[in-house]
Amino acid sequence: MQTVRQSSQSGGTIRRMFRTRILRTCIAAVLLSFTLAIPAQQLVNGYEPKWWKEAVVYQIYPRSFKDSNGDGIGDLPGILSKLDYLQKLGVNVIWLSPHYDSPNVDGGYDIRDYRKVMKEFGDMGDFDSLLAGIKQRHMRLIIDLVVNHTSDENKWFVESRSSKTNPYRDFYIWRPGHTAADGTRTPPNNYPSYFSGSAWTLDPKTDEYYLHYFAVKQPDLNWDEPKVRQEVYSLMRFWLDKGVDGFRMDVIPLISKPAGMPDLTPEQLQNPPNAYANGPRLPEYLHEMNREVLSKYDTMTVGEATGTTLAQTNSLVDDRRHELNMIFNFDAIKLGRPDFGPSVLGPWSLSQLKAIYDAHATVLTKHDWDTVFLSNHDNPRIVSTFGDDSPAMRANSAKLFETMILTLRGTPFLYQGDELGMTDYPFKKLSDYNDIAIKNAYKDQVESGKVSAEAFLAGQAKVTRDNARTPMQWDSSPEAGFTTGNHPWLAVNPNYTEINAAEEESDPGSVLNYVRALIKLRASTLAFVYGDYKDLDPKNEKVYAYTRTLGGERYLVVENFGSSAQAYTLPDGLKAGTLLLSDIPTSHEANASTLNLGPWESRIYKQ
Ligand code: GLC
Ligand code: CA
Repeated sequence: MQTVRQSSQSGGTIRRMFRTRILRTCIAAVLLSFTLAIPAQQLVNGYEPKWWKEAVVYQIYPRSFKDSNGDGIGDLPGILSKLDYLQKLGVNVIWLSPHYDSPNVDGGYDIRDYRKVMKEFGDMGDFDSLLAGIKQRHMRLIIDLVVNHTSDENKWFVESRSSKTNPYRDFYIWRPGHTAADGTRTPPNNYPSYFSGSAWTLDPKTDEYYLHYFAVKQPDLNWDEPKVRQEVYSLMRFWLDKGVDGFRMDVIPLISKPAGMPDLTPEQLQNPPNAYANGPRLPEYLHEMNREVLSKYDTMTVGEATGTTLAQTNSLVDDRRHELNMIFNFDAIKLGRPDFGPSVLGPWSLSQLKAIYDAHATVLTKHDWDTVFLSNHDNPRIVSTFGDDSPAMRANSAKLFETMILTLRGTPFLYQGDELGMTDYPFKKLSDYNDIAIKNAYKDQVESGKVSAEAFLAGQAKVTRDNARTPMQWDSSPEAGFTTGNHPWLAVNPNYTEINAAEEESDPGSVLNYVRALIKLRASTLAFVYGDYKDLDPKNEKVYAYTRTLGGERYLVVENFGSSAQAYTLPDGLKAGTLLLSDIPTSHEANASTLNLGPWESRIYKQ
């Protein structure tokens, strides 16, 4: 005000008018921002309510879900035929792993044509029918956005590699590399690929190296080139205009490359994703994507936050930034093993797992939103990794993890088959596997003599992504009802005669029926969505006990992490309350302060 008054005394009329207009615009902008901001009474416990915060998401890996035509490959009509099953389960958002045209070197995460459907999965008509079927059932669909890289068969790359002057040359990252005195060529820097070997490949046609953080057939796009970004926004609009509800964004923190791309230091080489992720222009790209595309639709976005620490989360998801809604943080799912290279399963403790969720609750603010998951198409099965998949304990331990995922803070993500308590596959020989990550790692580690074949295969069996990709077990007919043919693309787990959806449908005590009840309970209990979280006993290595509180309502969740019974006394004189759900028939022990928990038992009380 002071400035305006002074200037009106000393300045000319035009300048005065101009300044007054600026002032008016500022006042209008302030008023507008007040009217647009959600009034405090509409917040729920400080959070802005959103459908995607209240959602339960179910991930489908199309190749392995349901085959409709007997060729051994899951497809879109197969998914359509199972929508009633998903509706009955109670999930309300489906995340579809890539369904695009692809030569399929990396499970469809190598896209040849972003506007076409993978021919084994069907065609655009099948996609439209699937989307319509999902909408009819009041569910939503998010699709995978894989735009850090394409397939080398994508027309952009075909053009790009054809000559140094091609208009698409700068769609990808090309460098001359180094040439020694004797003519030997070496890559531009020491970046390793996620799938073993160097992240650079020399392309003879133009005698330059291109960057590929993943497979040789997955060249990285150059996001610094504005035309690349416009192409991506255009394909996003294409799918949003069809009616999809958002995206899971593949390795999204990798799109902005490190400034100058210097060699990784020995320390960085211990964990390359940290060095690759969150490059200097990432906020600018995400912001632009939000402004140009996402803000124009009612979407849900979840970024796969490879290489991102918890402390970096709000730089991606704080709602005042207008970038992403949520990310997947891998601290829990990768507990005891690194997120890079052919890792093996290491030891982990319950207190470590709790410390991860506790830290999330402390670090993330009411402007951030979290996800909770322990499975996806890149990780082994929950019950075999974190629980106990022996016949006596499998169902109870599977139920415990579903209880945890559906009652902790954040939007829960289930992966197909979790609701049945599906287990890891008994992988033995290299030919049992399909995954390029394993095949490349075998060459790198075993064929070079670094590791014995036996040790390598034994380690990989417990962590391989193929554990998640074996066909869905629908019933006890041959090939688990996944296909009517007899050649599923990846072998069916031999335990399908006991573990399958039809069997579990008819068993009231099954994992499937328990998960249905859990989802129903969550759907009617806002405290599990917006409520505060408190870990009651962080150091306890046997029992995980926590509360979720919203206003005057408090829920207590108690989980016995182990195959032996536990008498557990609640801390601070707390009493249990009324039992709402338990995974095994139990005496309710209502209002008890000591709970006699069975093996892998979990209980939910209302206090
Ligand atoms: C993501 C996907 C994984 C894929 C990789 C490269 O991590 O989840 O399946 O191999 O990106 O696209
Ligand atoms: Ca098929």
